[in-house]
Amino acid sequence: MANTVLVGLQWGDEGKGKIIDVLTERADVVVRFQGGNNAGHTVKVGEQQFVLHLVPSGILRERSLCIIGNGVVVDPLALDQEIAELEGKGIDVRSRLHLSSRAQLVFCYHRQMDGLFERKLGENKIGTTKRGIGPAYADKVNRVGIRAAALLHPARFEARFRAQAGFYNRLLSEGGEAPLDVDAEWGRLAAAADRLAPLVKDTVLMVNQASRAGREILFEGAQGTWLDVDYGTYPFVTSSNTTAGAACTGGGLAPSRIERVIGVAKAYTTRVGSGPFPTELTDDTGDELRRVGSEFGATTGRPRRCGWFDAVATRYAAMLNGADEMAVTKLDVLDDVRTLRICTAYSIDGVVTHEMPADIEDITRAVPVYEEMPGWRQPTSGVRCRRDLPAAALRYLERLAELAQCRISLLSIGPKREQTFTF
Ligand code: GDP
Ligand code: IMO
Ligand code: MG
Repeated sequence: MANTVLVGLQWGDEGKGKIIDVLTERADVVVRFQGGNNAGHTVKVGEQQFVLHLVPSGILRERSLCIIGNGVVVDPLALDQEIAELEGKGIDVRSRLHLSSRAQLVFCYHRQMDGLFERKLGENKIGTTKRGIGPAYADKVNRVGIRAAALLHPARFEARFRAQAGFYNRLLSEGGEAPLDVDAEWGRLAAAADRLAPLVKDTVLMVNQASRAGREILFEGAQGTWLDVDYGTYPFVTSSNTTAGAACTGGGLAPSRIERVIGVAKAYTTRVGSGPFPTELTDDTGDELRRVGSEFGATTGRPRRCGWFDAVATRYAAMLNGADEMAVTKLDVLDDVRTLRICTAYSIDGVVTHEMPADIEDITRAVPVYEEMPGWRQPTSGVRCRRDLPAAALRYLERLAELAQCRISLLSIGPKREQTFTF
């Protein structure tokens, strides 16, 4: 396998974790390059289920080295806890996980500011995961963030943390929030820092040395294209670039070394949090997709909004990411649907467009233009090769690929490893 970037083509939760786990059967190194513990990547191994938030999904395969790259925002308390939980389940994490010394850290004041901003927005809130992701990226860009390198120097770390916490305590009290207990928080951080310090490395060197040695690197995207801070349904987005280009800036490997981009898309669409979602179903069909697909957030447990496959959004996303191939997941969830709909265009104030508009007002007003296809009304979760798929399922998939202008290379028909095949 070549150096590969894997990204979500929709609004997140496409099944990236599962596909990463399948691909890491062959990858030597797995790198997370953006986002933070707003991500929730579910991997089922046998009867055990793992939900990964900061640790790359490659950790579940013994051969792969796992890297949290500089583009990730890392909550040290959350990472410490995630490692402990994985180790509690028998996964050897510490010998294989490395944390970029340049990764930004997320603290309690970021989480509180996240909550404060959301409350101030009232009914216009973003519906964030309240993990402090936006405020942490804001600190990075404002050049006042604290990076993982600080974990190696407790005295410097403490001084910087106390200075920032003091600043935020003033802001929080102006916003009517309870002040942080800085001493108690520092106590928790110092203990976590002690355990995390051995993981802190110059991961740029590691990634480039691995690449030069001919080892194959898999970049694990979090969130999805339409949550990208530049290209997504702004302002209802996350605070990082979720698209393929970010693998280079957030992972430390140059664009000239990336050989393959895989986009992951569900056979329908979901979204968590607020913001426009043109193909959303607010009726019984939407409820049925949520029930059959167990569409509840892996991080916050919130019910996911469900809707039809949006070929306008997916084609644009495939183009933007340079994804020549797509892994389609959760086809099995559609097994009982009588008539399927695919959005092929948007009608905005009576004008039909095939492209995703930039303006949130236009996306909000977009009325999907649908084409219908008959469902297959039989189970697909036991299918293991293309020729065993029901004819109507095959036609549906071929139509998705045609409309998205992206060939399907992998198909997933259940949460388990073995419920995946090359298409
Ligand atoms: P991620 O954030 O993109 O990694 O996706 P999530 O883990 O948040 O959500 C995907 C959910 O769908 C998880 O619960 C997976 O176990 C599950 N899943 C993945 N692929 C399939 C599939 O093909 N069929 C079904 N039924 N479930 C799947
Ligand atoms: P994975 O990696 C789905 C959404 C939130 C909210 C918006 C901003 O599991 O696909 P944030 O906390 O990032 O500031 O929230 O982005 N969001 C996700 N939605 N999957 C995710 O990650 C998400 N991470 C953030 O619901 O709408
Ligand atoms: Mg998820």
